[in-house]
Amino acid sequence: MNKLTINGKAHDVESSPDTPLLWVLREWLGMTGTKYGCGIAQCGACTVHVDGVAMRSCGVTVSEAAGKQITTIEGLASNGALHKVQQAWVANDVPQCGYCQSGMIMAVAALLKEKPKPTDQDINEAITNICRCGTFQQVREAIHSAANA
Ligand code: FES
Ligand code: FES
Repeated sequence: MNKLTINGKAHDVESSPDTPLLWVLREWLGMTGTKYGCGIAQCGACTVHVDGVAMRSCGVTVSEAAGKQITTIEGLASNGALHKVQQAWVANDVPQCGYCQSGMIMAVAALLKEKPKPTDQDINEAITNICRCGTFQQVREAIHSAANA
């Protein structure tokens, strides 16, 4: 039994300890806001926060995640208010197909927590998520807009 805390709620998951966290989120718990892209920790579509740090959940096992605070895109807003990154995404009309965007938003939220006013270089180094629709410029503008909100 793996004991996970996701968006503040406890879950007991009877998967094998090496099951990827992404599988548990999507297939066991039905939390499909976290996306499956590459499955090899390269694209960032599956990014969640583990104890506040952005991690690619396809590369984290449930046993590694057990006992830690996991936040997914479903838990980013609080008390009905969108997180400032989500607000900036709406204001800047960032998404196209949207597939990569929850992972992108989670990565950016973690970046802004660590660096409230990131430079373009900080963004280049921290946000390595892949977007097949090429929203990179809109992402950059929305990050600066969220940082200045
Ligand atoms: S699905 Fe996890 S990084 Fe691509
Ligand atoms: S918005 Fe389509 S993959 Fe990024």
